[in-house]
Amino acid sequence: MNIENLRRQYADEALGAEELHQDPIAQFTAWFDDAQSAESADWFEPNAMTLATSDLSGQVSARIVLLKNISPSGLTFFTNYQSNKARQLLENPRASLVFYWPHRERQVRIEGQVSKTDAATSDEYFHARPRESQLGAIASPQSQPLADRKTIEAETKKLASEYGDQEIPRPEYWGGYLLQPNRFEFWQGRPSRLHDRLVYTRQPDKNWTITRLAP
Ligand SMILES: Cc1cc2nc3c(=O)[nH]c(=O)nc-3n(C[C@H](O)[C@H](O)[C@H](O)COP(=O)(O)O)c2cc1C
Repeated sequence: MNIENLRRQYADEALGAEELHQDPIAQFTAWFDDAQSAESADWFEPNAMTLATSDLSGQVSARIVLLKNISPSGLTFFTNYQSNKARQLLENPRASLVFYWPHRERQVRIEGQVSKTDAATSDEYFHARPRESQLGAIASPQSQPLADRKTIEAETKKLASEYGDQEIPRPEYWGGYLLQPNRFEFWQGRPSRLHDRLVYTRQPDKNWTITRLAP
């Protein structure tokens, strides 16, 4: 295997400032809809995104989470509020998201400030999830050491029989985060490494400027 020689020639789909929406959330939504509707492998999850966080020591940590909502305020994902990412977000609420849509030869990078969603938003999504996922979220002390797998499987079973068919309450340690963006970068792969990169930067007056960057 020769990793050095792995490379792809991208198609020549252009991205120019003149065709961008003024509002980057509208631009993101257009690209997201496109990534979702374009033909792709059935395992592909267009709403999977890399979330990078860091703590006060400067240690950075990145993992995949699923985008669950796009609104004019930002992008929402759900997780455990006692996880490692939650600890990092408490120490440093600034975070970064990356989407890679290989079938469209596109990348979107987003940076911003993260805060917890309100309880009603977290409740609504928690109750919309399959029952097994609700139980799993309660039973799993995310990011904590586990002696073995049996422990959480037994805990999930115990919870299932305790709740029967009653509504399962959302635990206070599980819920959403909203990332309010201050920077978006839209990247379109082009031939010969001359890719298009267009960056939106939020100004103090809340308007966005658009700048082209060298690839
Ligand atoms: C495709 C995919 C989707 C995932 N979605 C989520 C998610 O929405 N929320 C979440 O907490 N973890 C999700 N995970 C698991 C995280 O990547 C990670 O293992 C977990 O959140 C613990 O991270 P932490 O210890 O840095 O807090 C997902 C993983 C993959 C591969």
